[in-house]
Amino acid sequence: MNTKKRLLSGVKPTGRPHVGNYLGAMRQFVDLAKSHESFVFIADYHALNTIHDASQMRQNTIDLILDYLAIGLDPKEVVLFKQSDLAEHTELCWIFNTFTTMPYLMRAHAYKDAQAKNKEINVGTFDYPMLMSADILLYEPDIVPVGADQKQHVEYARDTAEKFNTLFGDTFKLPEPHIPKEIAIIPGVDGQKMSKSYNNTIPLFADDDVIRKATMSIVTDSLGVEDPKDPEKCNIFALHKHFSKDTLSEIEKRYREGNIGYKESKERLADNIVKFVTPMRELRSELSKEKGLIEKVLGEGREKAHTVASAKMQEVKKKIGVI
Ligand code: ADP
Ligand code: TRP
Repeated sequence: MNTKKRLLSGVKPTGRPHVGNYLGAMRQFVDLAKSHESFVFIADYHALNTIHDASQMRQNTIDLILDYLAIGLDPKEVVLFKQSDLAEHTELCWIFNTFTTMPYLMRAHAYKDAQAKNKEINVGTFDYPMLMSADILLYEPDIVPVGADQKQHVEYARDTAEKFNTLFGDTFKLPEPHIPKEIAIIPGVDGQKMSKSYNNTIPLFADDDVIRKATMSIVTDSLGVEDPKDPEKCNIFALHKHFSKDTLSEIEKRYREGNIGYKESKERLADNIVKFVTPMRELRSELSKEKGLIEKVLGEGREKAHTVASAKMQEVKKKIGVI
């Protein structure tokens, strides 16, 4: 029997990952996989809320698996699978829908944001927290590593587990989000949260010149080279914390002394990001040439995930009285 604690998390295949996705979510999967029995999946049915183009969906999915493998997830240790390969996710989502109220879903940040922007929201997006609850609860994870923006969704999963347990008897374990404080929100080049939707990202697997250009565009105040600067207020320094660990105290000292300009700070950061990314990028390029790799990884992942998900689903169906 496996005595390790269980981890589950997913990422939507909605575009190339950026430094914020990597530090906030993906890297944690690799670090935690050593001590946890891990399930990591591609949330393609969540992505379908915004991607209605089959070739783009296929390509994004392939890209994301390669990304996972390139950052160091080992498919022998981690169950890597695709949400749409397991009908149990949408099936359980439906069951949750039947006792979830509309006002409760209307409190979701994602829904409120869309409404504030006067967006015509689709039913899938409205129901996003229930599909995510199903994703999580089927596997009974102890922890769900995500960025701070996903905390509310994990709380929805906890609430939903409690509601189901009250209605039908003890069935689901309550999951915990896992959000290390120092990486809760990685700022983008404009200082807002780095996000694909804000056009402010430093892409993770991009070519050197793209990484450099994005880094050089980080917004700062207008203090000159010799002005003392507070590193904690600087968007460049926020990234040095992750990519320049060896020289962080020296950089911090020079900030405070007024002995470094933003241009030099950005150049050093860009060098360090490029240095960090290069081996992963090379591995990714090698993996992308391996014929049949993606199908093999996903096929094996599907089988292992199915063992867990189908057993839970049988239990749920008995509890609700359909079998
Ligand atoms: P995006 O906002 O770019 O669309 P996603 O919503 O696809 O990113 O997020 C994928 C994962 O990466 C989630 O777990 C999310 O919490 C994490 N994440 C995204 N952006 C950041 C960020 N700027 N800082 C920390 N974590 C992040
Ligand atoms: N909502 C998550 C995101 O935007 C992706 C996701 C879907 C997920 N289902 C999940 C994350 C289950 C953790 C657990 O990044």
